[in-house]
Amino acid sequence: MPIEIAVGTQWGDEGKGRVVDLLSAEADLVARFNGGDNAGHTVTVGQTTFKLHLIPSGIIHPHTLCLLGNGMVINPLSFLAELEMLEKAGVDVSPRRLFVSQAALLITPVHRLLDQAQDEARGAGRLGTTGRGIGPAYVDKAARSGLRAGDILDEAAFRSKAQAHVAEVSRLMQVLYHKDPLDAQAIAGDFVEKALRMAPYITDVGAIARKNLAAGKRLLAEGAQGALLDLDHGTYPYVTSSCTTATGLFGGLGIGIQAVQRVVGITKAFQTRVGDGPFPTELEGEMALRLRGSGANPWDEYGTTTGRPRRVGWLDGVLLKYVVELSGISELGVTKLDILSGLPSLKVCTAYSLDGRSGDEFNVARLGEYRPVYEEMPGWEADVSGARRLQDLPAAARRYLNRIQEIAGAPVRLVSVGPEREQVILA
Ligand code: GDP
Ligand code: IMO
Ligand code: MG
Repeated sequence: MPIEIAVGTQWGDEGKGRVVDLLSAEADLVARFNGGDNAGHTVTVGQTTFKLHLIPSGIIHPHTLCLLGNGMVINPLSFLAELEMLEKAGVDVSPRRLFVSQAALLITPVHRLLDQAQDEARGAGRLGTTGRGIGPAYVDKAARSGLRAGDILDEAAFRSKAQAHVAEVSRLMQVLYHKDPLDAQAIAGDFVEKALRMAPYITDVGAIARKNLAAGKRLLAEGAQGALLDLDHGTYPYVTSSCTTATGLFGGLGIGIQAVQRVVGITKAFQTRVGDGPFPTELEGEMALRLRGSGANPWDEYGTTTGRPRRVGWLDGVLLKYVVELSGISELGVTKLDILSGLPSLKVCTAYSLDGRSGDEFNVARLGEYRPVYEEMPGWEADVSGARRLQDLPAAARRYLNRIQEIAGAPVRLVSVGPEREQVILA
């Protein structure tokens, strides 16, 4: 069974990039299958920190093939910027090892404008999107009117499709949001010029994945966002527009359903969310500042893609149990345990209460109505960033991890205690 899937179990930013980097050492292919450059995945290797938005985090290991699947929405300008960033850092990003699905939807500059105008128009009901054009691009896909990566390969047709698309979005924005008309020819012309540079990477990625799997190669799938942002199963409408659970892999890469060796649910040791929407265990005041950090450290809780401060709270065990079932998580990777050092006590949400009743059953569509019921546990003083074995951790930290796996119903197999490659405990 050569497939492994690593996905977020919360609202994104769980530390997927660093875990995928680690697991990539043993993979032949690393694939993204959902989302676009709304994702921001951080990998720290020595003095270098990579912030990846579209290209799989496995790219840092020189032996991997990296695939961008059909389930993604790809902004060619972001893709090219990422290529440049990686090239400068000495990473091989040649089309011999990096492949973009011909069926992936393209995000254009006007998708971004439309995303921003739409969210602005929602007023108090805004979703707090990343403004990267994700929603509008998936809308075009479902409406069967979008530009696909494969369209780039026929330059003349691509040019006219791009111009029609920009003109249409411009009309929409004038009518609905009273925006000034856009210069469709100039915007489309500039976009096409740049997008053409992506051509050497575009191919039938599903066929590459299927062929390699048939040959016994090992595939690692890298989810973007987290299960609670899933379009269907997350906190709708405060979600992203793609399938963010592990089940999205098959459709989003173009491979048949088959056995998976393991599904690693990447889980931050506390809870964060960037953007609007319900968050039962959210904290405010001093404890929130403590968990978020001041922004002085690169790992403090400020968005990798947008720089927005993340909302923070105690770990929500009720949601984690739900996601373990939803995403078929076979094991957990708990990240940022080091951040909890020095807290006198910790809380974990083990149940919700509503209308005088409490328990761990809930309806995700009504998440905003529940109040969290906490279990309090002793904290630990020691800095754990140098721990490399479970035995190196204080007893209270081990108890916290044990409690997490009990509540979640999946074992903790990996714990990270700092952003660097070696700051990991394999349990
Ligand atoms: P992703 O979107 O899930 O890949 O996560 P992000 O990269 O958006 O955010 C995770 C942040 O936490 C990054 O700055 C990582 O370098 C950092 N990070 C990951 N694991 C750890 C850890 O164990 N400890 C600390 N202190 N930082 C970590
Ligand atoms: P990674 O892969 C955290 C959130 C946005 C917003 C909602 C919808 O780094 O974990 P969108 O732009 O997708 O339409 O925004 O989803 N969001 C993320 N939050 N991490 C991400 O990605 C996110 N991608 C989208 O903040 O609430
Ligand atoms: Mg992120």
